[in-house]
Amino acid sequence: MKHVLIIGATSAIAEQAARQLVAQGASLFCVGRNQHKLDGLVDDLKVRAGDGQSVDALALDLTDTERHEELILAAERSLGRLDAVLIAHGTLPDQQACQLDAALTRREIDTNALSVIGLLTLLANRFEQQRQGVIAVISSVAGDRGRQSNYVYGAAKGMVTLFLQGLRNRLTKSGVDVVTIKPGFVDTPMTAAFEKSGPLWAKPDQVAQGIVKAMERGRGEVYLPRFWQGIMLIIKAIPEFVFKRLSL
Ligand SMILES: NC(=O)c1ccc[n+]([C@@H]2O[C@H](COP(=O)([O-])OP(=O)(O)OC[C@H]3O[C@@H](n4cnc5c(N)ncnc54)[C@H](OP(=O)(O)O)[C@@H]3O)[C@@H](O)[C@H]2O)c1
Repeated sequence: MKHVLIIGATSAIAEQAARQLVAQGASLFCVGRNQHKLDGLVDDLKVRAGDGQSVDALALDLTDTERHEELILAAERSLGRLDAVLIAHGTLPDQQACQLDAALTRREIDTNALSVIGLLTLLANRFEQQRQGVIAVISSVAGDRGRQSNYVYGAAKGMVTLFLQGLRNRLTKSGVDVVTIKPGFVDTPMTAAFEKSGPLWAKPDQVAQGIVKAMERGRGEVYLPRFWQGIMLIIKAIPEFVFKRLSL
């Protein structure tokens, strides 16, 4: 993974993954929507990079799907080739507000699912043709089962998880690894409004380490930290007639 495209690079988790990839000698092309944050990220990564490593960036709102092709071309121009891509952008919708506003619900699905699927559709064909590489996407444990407290976000992440499952099935024979990353609770700006004490909360650098490792190993689906796999096994196993009575 010497030439890596990071989409949603200003996310707290992606920033930590970017640092780890640069420390391992990778050149990066970073995409985010906030130019100021992106400039800060690139400056920091360039200081960490060694001779021969490059760090470039492009500012872009990722729901602007008409510019996705331009994004990929810019990354290819900068990096020469793409060994891996990490898609990390996302928003945590206000579930109550979404319940009152269908347009807001659609926007959240657009950001968290449709923009990702648009990017994957273009990237998959490139990777399939070059017959190697890693496509990794940050989904969420929330996509494993719909819950009343966040089913708009859960539905979007579930769509991404299922899309990736099919994509992995398609691209395996081309030698391309498709990695679905399912973090649990992570202490980032996205979860700023939450009470963050307790053993279920992880730090972004810890999750980023798991992401880089999963990409290197070409894992299919990973829960980060790993104990979430057990938790979600139990959540998924609860019969629907019991689940619908729970306030989750
Ligand atoms: N934190 C958690 O507990 C948790 C758990 C499971 C999964 N995840 C997933 O992990 C990923 C990274 O999130 P994070 O926790 O690191 O949160 P974060 O620091 O808030 O990062 C979210 C990033 O997404 C970017 N973004 C949102 N909408 C965008 C758009 N339309 N175009 C371009 N960029 C956009 C944001 O850009 P701006 O900075 O410009 O707003 C921000 O950089 C997300 O996919 C999230 O759903 C997080």
